[in-house]
Amino acid sequence: MTGEAIPVVWTFHAASEDDTRRLGEAIGAAALSGLVIALVGQLGAGKTRLVRAIADGAGVRDQIVNSPTYVLVQEYHGRLPIYHFDTYRLRSLDEFIELGAEEYLGADGVCCIEWADRVADVLPPDVLRIEIAVVGRDDRRFGITANGPTSASVLFKFRTALS
Ligand SMILES: Nc1ncnc2c1ncn2[C@@H]1O[C@H](COP(=O)(O)OP(=O)(O)O)[C@@H](O)[C@H]1O
Ligand SMILES: [Mg+2]
Repeated sequence: MTGEAIPVVWTFHAASEDDTRRLGEAIGAAALSGLVIALVGQLGAGKTRLVRAIADGAGVRDQIVNSPTYVLVQEYHGRLPIYHFDTYRLRSLDEFIELGAEEYLGADGVCCIEWADRVADVLPPDVLRIEIAVVGRDDRRFGITANGPTSASVLFKFRTALS
């Protein structure tokens, strides 16, 4: 492939919400079955906004992508199934496991997990970690790390598409 060693780190700077949409759509277009995306960043950083674009890029149509605050996990259907978690209101790691987290994480789809640091202990090693820093009103810095073969090949693909 590219000869780069894992982990692979890449920074994407979004100067506007439209840039975030481009990043998310490229990730969704590159996504592979089994990809786990761990989203980290303060309230209002843009985690949900990015998942919405990932879903669009993966071909999800006519389904509303919002933070799954009350149900904790929402499922969308595109080229691949997307499982969208928001662990913000999760009371414990057990609650996440009772939700069937391990089945979702091992399923044939893409898992997008907001507030992923809260459930880091049960995430697999091969994760695409996206840490969003708020730089200005519309400015965001996306620190992206691929920690295994699936996340790395997805990262190579969307990085190339965006470069
Ligand atoms: N570059 C950007 N990328 C993402 N969101 C942005 C950007 N600039 C401004 N925003 C705004 O920031 C907010 C992000 O909200 P949201 O995605 O719900 O955050 P989170 O899920 O991290 O709490 C939205 O109101 C969005 O309009
Ligand atoms: Mg959110």
